Amino acid sequence: MAARKLAALLTAVLHLCLCQITQEPLPEFLAPLENHTVILGRDVSFTCVVNNLHSYKVAWMKSDSRAILAIHTHLIAHNPRLSVTHNGHNTWKLHISNVQKNDSGAYMCQVNTEPMKSQNGYMEVMIPPDIIDDESSQGMVTNEGGNVKLKCVATGTPKPTVTWKREDGRNIILREDGQKQSLKSYEGEVLELNGVLRQEMGAYLCIASNNVPPTPSKRYTVNVHFSPAIKVTNQLVAAPIDSDVVLQCHVEASPQALNTWYRNTGDKLLPGDKYVMTEHALNDYSWQMNLTVNELTRPDLGEYVCSSVNALGKADGVVRLQELHLVPKTTPSILTKNDLKQRKGSNSKSRKKNNGKNGRRLYPNFEEFDSSAGEEDLGTTQILSGSTPQENSHKTDRPSHVTSSTPPWVIISAADSTKFFSLKFLIGCLGSSLILLIFIQ
Ligand SMILES: *[C@@H]1O[C@H](CO)[C@@H](O)[C@H](O)[C@H]1NC(C)=O
Ligand SMILES: *[C@@H]1O[C@H](CO)[C@@H](O)[C@H](O)[C@H]1NC(C)=O
Ligand SMILES: *[C@@H]1O[C@H](CO)[C@@H](O)[C@H](O)[C@H]1NC(C)=O
Repeated sequence: MAARKLAALLTAVLHLCLCQITQEPLPEFLAPLENHTVILGRDVSFTCVVNNLHSYKVAWMKSDSRAILAIHTHLIAHNPRLSVTHNGHNTWKLHISNVQKNDSGAYMCQVNTEPMKSQNGYMEVMIPPDIIDDESSQGMVTNEGGNVKLKCVATGTPKPTVTWKREDGRNIILREDGQKQSLKSYEGEVLELNGVLRQEMGAYLCIASNNVPPTPSKRYTVNVHFSPAIKVTNQLVAAPIDSDVVLQCHVEASPQALNTWYRNTGDKLLPGDKYVMTEHALNDYSWQMNLTVNELTRPDLGEYVCSSVNALGKADGVVRLQELHLVPKTTPSILTKNDLKQRKGSNSKSRKKNNGKNGRRLYPNFEEFDSSAGEEDLGTTQILSGSTPQENSHKTDRPSHVTSSTPPWVIISAADSTKFFSLKFLIGCLGSSLILLIFIQ
């Protein structure tokens, strides 16, 4: 009995099932919902394709908030950036314009069958990098040898990588535990510059990138302060009377120093017809100081001091200006080692006899100069080219074979001569090599 009842029930159930399948096929999705990766501010749409919808309805939901966004073609959410469309057949679309950060997440296309049918699509919103303001960008200052820490924090999706470069393209120098690394670029939010030297002064750029344009960068300035140092390349300059002559000093200082020229008498030189001073910046911390002495007279001969002062200290450099006698015809325009040697020999005798200013010695100072330095020094003798306004009016003084516009100034690079080697510069050199030694250690 029980078996017959069960069989009858099964048949009934089977009949019911078959009826439903044959009579009314259930709605089905024809394709999965897409996933989208969208850049902030762009537009995007999800497409839901449903067959056999019959009287059922398609609805859109935001999965995380469970908020119903739209049913069929009716928008439910109060969001002007959303819209829904239906192509009149089997395709429904949810459009999102000007995508915002909080639009990311799962979206559901749902059909109100019992139980309901649904499918999910995901949206990732890509956000271009943004660099968070940090006061360290306003300009970091350290004394030479000190440390500087630059911080560049960037937001964005996906998380941006932060790369550091120097604006001038030079390498970044990293020092840690006595190790030194020189890198074209450095990756990381924090750039630690330790034992910073003057060459590392300048602008550093942090660039945040996550492949979503635009790629922002931020400029950080690093200032390294140190007391002035002066280098005089040509410590001995000889020029003919009546010519204009340029004396030069090379200054390194940070912050920028106040530079002045003095006579060795202590008188500060003022710009005017006689003296023209110029300063030319070579980089962030070095300058070329020029002093032009116009229409050289005998009282102009002697020592000139270039002086540089900033908050951290002071430095001086000495240039000695001598008369250059032009001997017509026989004087070569370029003096060779032998010429100078010969003169030196003859001068040392005549000098003792003449014993003073009236002597017609060609290079009154060579004797002292030579006695303390080897012959090699003379090898550095050079002629500097330059033109002076007086040139034409003094043509008669010129050796006939000097055809160029080059006044035969003889500039002796006395870098090796201890006599003219500025003691202060020497001390400066020793000081900086000492500092250097400390760094190396
Ligand atoms: C969308 O991403 C989910 C997981 O993130 C994955 O399961 C699904 O297959 C993806 N859909 C498509 C159409 O690729
Ligand atoms: C999403 O963010 C926008 C602005 O970016 C805001 O107007 C909106 O109310 C936010 N929506 C939600 C659900 O938080
Ligand atoms: C300084 O003098 C040198 C040599 O005469 C010249 O080349 C240079 O242009 C001068 N610089 C300035 C700033 O006057």
